[in-house]
Amino acid sequence: MLTREMDSFPYPFKGEQYRYSNNSVPMTRPSSIEITPRYTEEIQLKRNLLNNYPERCFQTMPHTLKGQWEAVDLVTEHLAAFFPSQFALQKNGDHWTFENKLLGEAFTFTYGDETTIPYQPLDFIGRHVQEDLIFMLERDGDLHLDAGQLCFPANWSLAFNLGMRFKEIHHPIPGFKEEELDERILRFLMRMEAGSPWERLNWSLMAGNKLDTSLETFHEWGKERKNVTEVNAGDLVHLRVEVQKLFRLPQSNGILFTIHTHLLAIKDLAANRDWLQQFYHILKELPEHIAEYKGIALYQKPLLSYLKGKLT
Ligand code: HEM
Repeated sequence: MLTREMDSFPYPFKGEQYRYSNNSVPMTRPSSIEITPRYTEEIQLKRNLLNNYPERCFQTMPHTLKGQWEAVDLVTEHLAAFFPSQFALQKNGDHWTFENKLLGEAFTFTYGDETTIPYQPLDFIGRHVQEDLIFMLERDGDLHLDAGQLCFPANWSLAFNLGMRFKEIHHPIPGFKEEELDERILRFLMRMEAGSPWERLNWSLMAGNKLDTSLETFHEWGKERKNVTEVNAGDLVHLRVEVQKLFRLPQSNGILFTIHTHLLAIKDLAANRDWLQQFYHILKELPEHIAEYKGIALYQKPLLSYLKGKLT
């Protein structure tokens, strides 16, 4: 792997053990988007998935259009402000021009008028960023997943989750409800204010290096888990880290949740001695219910043997 990618990899671990918690922190660089050296390759992959599997990758409820436009506003503003050599935005009242210099594309449209853009607003802007974009709307005193563009899910389904409440979405996570984490996180989200964004990291392991690991295609990629051995674990298994960012959108009172997925082969992780030691201890100590939920249990043993071999 390129050194610069290793340097910027969002390594997620702290301490000697991992437990579920609300690990959200206030953002220091308040951009909803990051651009990495894999930009062109991943945008191509995203657009292919969106064109070939539209129901799997984009879902919305009709009442979200206003919120979707707000997301377009936030994301285009961030692209132009944080990446001025790659993107530009000109606003003249509702008459906007957005330029993607990396892809040589420019769009002139009327803000708020869907007939002037080629896709629904969230789908339109999502085709210019590596992040998946989820729009949560507050209604009936709760937070609902009412729109999303999702090409790189870690084993979940947007079509299945559309319209669901925050707690329903997190229902499959073992211990979440029992420890009242779902309630505490929901309260935290409902209190979030515009202008004070938060971010967190989530991690899992993958047998393989596919970004598009949707629930719908589990039969294609899930079987790789059975092929992990002590010998091939370094190449086959990948640490998958999601950088997740949360922005309150003041007009719709929705929340934009952006997910940027990074993959790192375990052999590259093991090349960093501190990471190797820490990851080995965390994986060895990981409670069974978390290993099961994250889909690691099937190959935890051969992976631990591989890591131990690297440590000695
Ligand atoms: C508000 C936007 C959010 C959305 C749309 C969202 C969505 C999801 C989804 C779809 C899953 C997978 C559930 C499944 O197995 O079917 C998940 C897992 C999870 N979520 Fe969220 N989430 C959000 C915010 C948060 C926040 C703020 C936290 C803070 C701690 C959090 C913590 C977790 C954890 C710990 C998991 C389990 C992940 C794992 O073990 O790999 N989520 N979330």
